[in-house]
Amino acid sequence: MISSPVVVIFSFLLLITSTPTTIHAQDGPIETPSSTSSSTSSSPKTPKFNPKNKVLIACGSQEDVSLPDGRTFKSDPSTVSNLSSEEDVKVNVDTLPPPPKDDVSSSKLPPPPPLPLYNSARIFPSAASYKFPISQPGFHLIRLYFFPLPHTTYNLSNAVFRVTTENFVLLHDFTVPNPTPIFKEYLLNLTTQTLTLKFSPKKNSFAFINAIEVISVPDDLISDTASAVPSVENVEGVAKHAFEVALRLNVGGPLLTPRNDTLWRTWYPDEEFNAFPEGTNKTGVNPREVKYPEGGATRFIAPSWVYATAAEMGNADTIKANFNLTWKMPVDPSYDYLIRLHFCDVVSIALNELYFNVYVNGMMGAPSFDLSTLTSALSTAYYRDFVINSTTIANGLVIIQVGPASGGSGDPNAILNGVEVIKMSNSAGSLSGLFDVEGNYMGAASGSKTMKILAVVGLVMGMVALLLVVVMFVRWQKRPLDCPRNNSFSSWLLPLTTSHSSFLSSKSASITASRKSSLFGSRKSNMFASTNQGVGKFFSFNELQDASNNFDENAVIGVGGFGKVYMGKLDDGTKVAIKRGNPQSEQGINEFQTEIQMLSQLRHRHLVSLIGYCDENAEMCLVYEFMSNGVLREHLYGSKLNAPMPWKQRLEICIGSARGLHYLHTGAAHCIIHRDVKTTNILLDENFVAKVSDFGLSKAACLMEQTHVSTAVKGSFGYLDPEYFRRQQLTEKSDVYSFGVVLLEVLTARPAINPALPRDQVNLAEWAMSNYRKGLLEKIVDPNLQGTISSGSLKKYVEAAEKCLAEYGVDRPSMGDVLWNLEYALQLQEASTKTEATEDKSSLLIPLETAPIMGINGVESSSAPTSDDHTEVGASAFSQIANFQGR
Ligand SMILES: *[C@@H]1O[C@H](CO)[C@@H](O)[C@H](O)[C@H]1NC(C)=O
Ligand SMILES: *[C@@H]1O[C@H](CO)[C@@H](O)[C@H](O)[C@H]1NC(C)=O
Ligand SMILES: *[C@@H]1O[C@H](CO)[C@@H](O)[C@H](O)[C@H]1NC(C)=O
Ligand SMILES: *[C@@H]1O[C@H](CO)[C@@H](O)[C@H](O)[C@H]1NC(C)=O
Ligand SMILES: *[C@@H]1O[C@H](CO)[C@@H](O)[C@H](O)[C@H]1NC(C)=O
Ligand SMILES: *[C@@H]1O[C@H](CO)[C@@H](O)[C@H](O)[C@H]1NC(C)=O
Ligand SMILES: *[C@@H]1O[C@H](CO)[C@@H](O)[C@H](O)[C@H]1NC(C)=O
Repeated sequence: MISSPVVVIFSFLLLITSTPTTIHAQDGPIETPSSTSSSTSSSPKTPKFNPKNKVLIACGSQEDVSLPDGRTFKSDPSTVSNLSSEEDVKVNVDTLPPPPKDDVSSSKLPPPPPLPLYNSARIFPSAASYKFPISQPGFHLIRLYFFPLPHTTYNLSNAVFRVTTENFVLLHDFTVPNPTPIFKEYLLNLTTQTLTLKFSPKKNSFAFINAIEVISVPDDLISDTASAVPSVENVEGVAKHAFEVALRLNVGGPLLTPRNDTLWRTWYPDEEFNAFPEGTNKTGVNPREVKYPEGGATRFIAPSWVYATAAEMGNADTIKANFNLTWKMPVDPSYDYLIRLHFCDVVSIALNELYFNVYVNGMMGAPSFDLSTLTSALSTAYYRDFVINSTTIANGLVIIQVGPASGGSGDPNAILNGVEVIKMSNSAGSLSGLFDVEGNYMGAASGSKTMKILAVVGLVMGMVALLLVVVMFVRWQKRPLDCPRNNSFSSWLLPLTTSHSSFLSSKSASITASRKSSLFGSRKSNMFASTNQGVGKFFSFNELQDASNNFDENAVIGVGGFGKVYMGKLDDGTKVAIKRGNPQSEQGINEFQTEIQMLSQLRHRHLVSLIGYCDENAEMCLVYEFMSNGVLREHLYGSKLNAPMPWKQRLEICIGSARGLHYLHTGAAHCIIHRDVKTTNILLDENFVAKVSDFGLSKAACLMEQTHVSTAVKGSFGYLDPEYFRRQQLTEKSDVYSFGVVLLEVLTARPAINPALPRDQVNLAEWAMSNYRKGLLEKIVDPNLQGTISSGSLKKYVEAAEKCLAEYGVDRPSMGDVLWNLEYALQLQEASTKTEATEDKSSLLIPLETAPIMGINGVESSSAPTSDDHTEVGASAFSQIANFQGR
């Protein structure tokens, strides 16, 4: 897991700094926020906290460095006594290099302000540490500044390192690839007499740091108790964590720099994160009017600038009065978060006018929140802490909403003044990754044992592979005579026949229908004959009402984001699945359209077919072929567990699904990214043929012109590609990642996320891979499969899964490669059972005529119907895909 979710951009930074600031010195005599006149010099200086412990170091700098906020960072020579480092490498520049033009502006997180601190750095070719005496224990702010300056020997963009304290991991496998500043801010309760900040380079790499800041903060900055969401009881023990500030917003107000804050913090404006700016009015009072109550919020909790400005609901005449103000903030979803919300009633004219609800991640955080009772005065600062569990973070977003509640005497309204999103350390005591301070992978067993096992398994694999090649060659020599002689060895492997191509164009729609009838033993020809669009039949709402017994709740076979799915029976007796959209949901309408668009272009044996649709009187329904064996998940650990599926069948299902996805990525005119690959979106028909379903989130991306599409993060928690989440750039490799999770789910028969398990087991991908790396593969295999999987097959399979789960998309295989590996795993499994049965080595390979090897075009086994009806459209593309050279 990369340590920095903050990808910074200069352009945004310029934008902020060039915006005329309208607010002047803190707590002094001030103009109203709308005034633009400047009288900074005449404003008295902001009274600041005088920290007991204070470390300010400009690493690598020959001279002290003064900041605009009036503080001075000490030079390197004057602090070298606190550093223990074997080498003495420094770098200094007069001006920073220009920011990159093609920066990764996909991140919505704002960049840190430019500071002279980034002009020098210290480089550590080997582990080094700074030690500072801590005279007063308690919470401290630790701020780290990074910028990869140019250096003749070291390319700082390639530095990969860890930063740890005595008890916590701050950064792991940290790297600053782009020439943009990175600012990290931590809140730690320091309990030892010294603070050791250790920089440990990764093997063959090095570390660097531009500046370090450690200041003690008032003890009441972090309280041990917070509201749980949904609010039942309070959460205790909050303060025992280490914290990293992910984002701090001055809602409704301007950027606040360290000059304007009591603890030299930075507060960003909220516009970037406001999901409904049209409905939002900014409002505010003079900061001097903000009152701090006895025993409540202090100016160290947040300066009066934060409390003085707010967002409130926009004009009630033009917008429906009842809606939520909504902020969405991207976070790393593998951590719990402390969410601190700041409120100050700067909108009401009298007390008891304003009642509103506060929601965190869609759950009620505080119902009928009543600032009048909580503060008993207007314009009074108030804050509340919420702790959210990582399991409630969907799509990598923390969502804060405020909306009116009944009971207030004024117009419906809701406000928010400030937000802090603060990451909490995990069970490994880390804010970055799952390695503890000692570098143990969640208390992993010794690595050497793992290596030995891997080596042995690798050797066995190699021998099996060699044997296979020999056997294949022997069989090739003895191949049937009707197999054309001039075929190359590899093309002999591929039963490619041009007639087996795609259904892309459904010119011959009625023939497609007859194929369908033969496959599903039902009569659907009328539907497909009625259209030549591929969209299928248009149904009237009445027809569907009849078919589903008036949408009988007992006929519900599934519930999705789009709405409920009902089982139905058409007039002619065909069983269908009817997905009925929720017309209120705008998301629903979009997904409905996406799905019709996608499915009308796609026909594949491993994709669920759309039979028709209904779009009438605000009712939206999609009608699909009925899949009598339901979703894959139910067969793994759900209601259909009574007959656990054997390994071979599971492999075949994985292969089928992989084929469907491979077709999506490469077979259609455009590369289509599914975006929601999971075991509930893989359906099984009566013959347990796997079909990928639910294209509501899918996106078409043309592979030729661009390799990714930039988009808001969508998908399902537990399956979400971490890289996609970080960069919000979608590639087909995100599906590959999700499919890797599916593979593990099939092997282990447990959900992708199981919040009921101990912390280190919650996430399937992490848990399974950690056991795999420890050589404890047998620990994760579904007990129902124990002893039935050939070791070669298992090895190949898990290898494929591991590759799918690679941190970076570029390191993941294509679906075609995954497919190949799964086919291989199936062959190894078959081979092992055959040799057991007959002791005949020559039968290691399954007979070619029935082998599902590498048939990409959707018809692979002898049980599949003939498909001469397929058009030629995809043929050339497929022959390119079906290229297994170099393996
Ligand atoms: C912050 O303080 C500085 C100096 O006191 C002032 O020039 C600037 O306008 C202030 N900015 C804001 C947003 O308060
Ligand atoms: C460096 O170490 C010395 C001795 O431990 C200490 O007095 C001094 O305050 C330290 N410097 C900083 C910046 O903490
Ligand atoms: C440093 O490494 C990065 C990433 O490998 C590369 O893009 C950059 O060109 C290198 N810079 C120099 C000066 O070699
Ligand atoms: C910091 O930790 C110490 C030791 O665990 C504890 O006694 C102290 O109360 C903590 N400080 C705060 C502010 O929570
Ligand atoms: C929102 O702002 C607009 C323009 O400033 C103003 O006309 C309107 O009355 C405001 N709405 C509310 C509810 O304050
Ligand atoms: C406000 O958001 C909450 C949580 O997402 C939701 O339950 C509620 O229906 C929303 N209210 C309105 C009026 O949209
Ligand atoms: C999050 O949920 C898991 C499982 O329900 C639980 O073990 C963990 O303690 C929770 N974390 C917090 C901070 O409540």
